[in-house]
Amino acid sequence: MSEQRPIGVIGVGWVGLVTAVCFADRGHEVIAMDIDEAKVDALRAGEVPIHEPGLGELLERNRERLRFAARMPEVLDSARLLFCCVDTPPTYSGDADLSRVRAVVSDLSDDGDHLLVMKSTVPSGTGRAIRRDAPDLPYVSCPEFLKEGTAIDDFLHPDRVVIGADPGDEWAGDQVEAIYRPLGGEIVRTDVASAEMIKLAANAFLATKISFINEIANVCEEVGADVTEVARGMGLDERIGPSFLRAGVGYGGSCFPKDVSALKQLAGNSGYHFQLLTSVIEVNELQKRRVIGKLEKHLGSLVGKRVALLGLAFKPKTDDMREASSLVLASRLQGEGATVRGYDPVAENRARELLPGIELLDSPEAALEGADAAILVTEWPEFAELDWESLAKRMKAPVLIDGRNYLDPERLRGAGFAYEGIGRSGDEAAAPAAAAKADSEPEAPRG
Ligand code: UGA
Repeated sequence: MSEQRPIGVIGVGWVGLVTAVCFADRGHEVIAMDIDEAKVDALRAGEVPIHEPGLGELLERNRERLRFAARMPEVLDSARLLFCCVDTPPTYSGDADLSRVRAVVSDLSDDGDHLLVMKSTVPSGTGRAIRRDAPDLPYVSCPEFLKEGTAIDDFLHPDRVVIGADPGDEWAGDQVEAIYRPLGGEIVRTDVASAEMIKLAANAFLATKISFINEIANVCEEVGADVTEVARGMGLDERIGPSFLRAGVGYGGSCFPKDVSALKQLAGNSGYHFQLLTSVIEVNELQKRRVIGKLEKHLGSLVGKRVALLGLAFKPKTDDMREASSLVLASRLQGEGATVRGYDPVAENRARELLPGIELLDSPEAALEGADAAILVTEWPEFAELDWESLAKRMKAPVLIDGRNYLDPERLRGAGFAYEGIGRSGDEAAAPAAAAKADSEPEAPRG
C-alpha cells in the first residue's frame, strides 16, 4: 500500500538513505532531507556518498520517486509520515547525544499534521519525553536493524519489524505497520519504551556474544584448543546459534560501541550498575592490544618495524571506519615505534582523513612489499584470493596475524608464513628471530 502523500525521511546518513531508497523501490513517493547541502546536491546529481552494495543502482532505478531537500519546510509541506533517521553519536560520558533528534522535534512540535516515526537509536524513555513535550505529535518507535554491507537486503527482507506505540497512538502504529507489512518478517507491536529497549538490548547482546567468544579464544590459546572449532560446536545448539561467534580483534562500527555504552549509561543514570556491559567493553578494548603482543612475540621490539594493515574499514563491504579496530591498532603500533602502512579496497578516502600518519597503498602487494609483518584487520573476500606464496617472498619477514581468523592457516604456513590467528590451535609462539625467516618451519601445535 502506498502512502498518499510522500514519506518524509529526515537525515540522509546510512540509515536514512537506505530507508528512503528502499521505500521508493517499494513504490512510495519519498522526500528525504539533510542539513548537509553538499550531500543533498550530490544525491540530486545521483552520487551516493557512502559505499553500500546495491545502493547506487537502487537509487538510480527509483529516481523519479525520490526527492532530496536541504530544508525542513519542504518536507513538512508535502510529507505527513516522517521517519527520523538523524544520528545519535556518543557524548564523552557514553550517553547518546540527542541534540539532533531534539532539533527535529522542535521543528514539528506545534504541528498537528505530522506523525513522527523514530528510527534513530535513542535511550529508552526518549519517546515518552518527546510525547510529553509535544502532545500533538503522534509518535511511533520503529528501530532499525540494518547491518552495513547488507543494509538493502536487511531492509527489504527484515527478520522482524518492531513498532512501538503508546496508548492513544495505536492508529499511528497501524499506519507504520501498513507500510512495513508488504516487506514480510514478523511484526512486533509493543509500547514505545520497550521498542527502544529492544534495539539497545539486541545490539548489546550481539556485542556480548562477540566479547564472550573473544575471551573463549584467549583461553583456547592457553589450552591449545581452536576457537573456530569451539564456535562451530557451540553454534549448532539452537539455543545459542552460530552467528556472532567469530573471534577476532573486537567489534567496531558506528553502532555496537555506541549502543553498548548508551545502555550502560542509561542503566547507570537510572541507578542500576550494568556490570556485564562494563566487561563487554573492556574485553573489546583488550582484544586489540593482544594483537600488538602477538606481533612482539614474533618481532621483538616494534621500533623501526614496518607493519602492514590489510583492511581498514570496521568490516567488509563498507567504507565506514567509525570505531574501526584499524584506528586503535595503527595508533598503538605507532606508539610502539613502528611505521604503519595500510590497504583497503574501498575505505582509502576515509582512511586518509582518519589515519593521517599512515602510508596508504593501492594494493595488498604494495602494502606488504618489504614489510616486517602484516595484520589482517578486515576480512575482505579479496584477501582470500591473494597469491600468498609470492607475497611471502615480497615481505622482509613473512609474519601474518590474522585478526579475523579468515585465512586458511595450513595454506598460509605452506606459503612460508609465520601465521597466527586469534585463538586457533597451531598458533605459533615464535621467537622473534626465528619467525623472521621465510623458510622457518612452523612450530608444532600446542596442547
Ligand atoms: C549492527 C547490528 O548487527 C545491526 O542489527 C544494527 O542495526 C546496527 O548495528 C545498528 O545499530 O545500526 P553493523 O554495525 O552494521 O550492525 O555491523 P555488524 O555486522 O553487526 O558488525 C559489528 C562489528 O562486530 C564489526 O566490527 C564486526 O567485525 C564485529 N563482529 C561481528 C565480530 O567481531 N564477530 C562476529 O562474530 C560478528
